Amino acid sequence: MTPQVSALPSAAVPPGTAERLARTARGLARAGATPASAASRAGAPEALRGELRTALALPDRRRGFRVVTGLLAGFADPGPTPPHWRGPQSAEADAIDLALALATSALGRLYGWAHQQDGRLVHNILPIPGHEDEQVGASSATLLTRHTEDAFHPLRPHLLVLAVMRNPEGVGSSVSSVRRAALSAEDRARLSRPLVTITPDDSYAPPEGAASWREVEGPRTPVLWAADDGLCLRYDPAYSVLPDDPGFLGSYDALEKALQDCEEEVPLGPGDVILIDNDVAAHGRRPFRARYDGTDRWLKRAIIGLDRPRPAAEAAEPGYGQRTVEPEAAR
Ligand SMILES: [Fe+2]
Repeated sequence: MTPQVSALPSAAVPPGTAERLARTARGLARAGATPASAASRAGAPEALRGELRTALALPDRRRGFRVVTGLLAGFADPGPTPPHWRGPQSAEADAIDLALALATSALGRLYGWAHQQDGRLVHNILPIPGHEDEQVGASSATLLTRHTEDAFHPLRPHLLVLAVMRNPEGVGSSVSSVRRAALSAEDRARLSRPLVTITPDDSYAPPEGAASWREVEGPRTPVLWAADDGLCLRYDPAYSVLPDDPGFLGSYDALEKALQDCEEEVPLGPGDVILIDNDVAAHGRRPFRARYDGTDRWLKRAIIGLDRPRPAAEAAEPGYGQRTVEPEAAR
């Protein structure tokens, strides 16, 4: 596997904007704000929201991601990597959470999930003992297979935002855009049929009375679908039940290979923010060794809804009973 080497789509936040963001976030922190209140209309002056919207331009729809540098330049080191997503974390990290809530809510609808990380709006992605080999963000020793974020749900995010607190081993994100994947017309047609069941991942509390989400019957959905401006993807092989159809399975394998061939390794340095278009790009991560001593890889994650339509058939999906949490109801 040779990751492609080409210029990264990136943008730098003007120092003045980063400074105003840090000052505003610290002021909110002193006043006892939460990410939810920061994300509300009253959280930030409209002028700052406008600056942030400009600085955090959405990724283009072919490449599927953008790296933004300098957004958090007004902050000091966030302190040790917490032992768990619940924390504890430093006051500086609390202020960074507020800054990310301000910045991401300028782009679209910031939300969370009731049964993921206690309904928080800004998640901690860090290795947690006992989860090393699972297909979740808290893993480390295993390859995190490329996937669409929250692929099981019709309200999955349009945009995934990852902000790097620290990344001592330089473990980047691997990103593959379906719009750069070489697929035959036949493969596209097969993968556009609603034949795959995608269950929630193990970061969601399992259903009551069942050991696994696989015991719950879910809808069958297509892997590929067409937006007005091109091909889109809904893909999570680690949590998918595939049909017993050799033709389909051959096309699914062809997609896996095509995504592998166009995969880009996006380097993630401290303070970098990566925006991933969750409808065109799948993402993953290579294995790394966790030390659990406060120096481990630590990302912040936020998910954003945009005003972009999805296939009409998705509207009837129950989403395995998983509810979103909007800022008004979040903590
Ligand atoms: Fe993910």
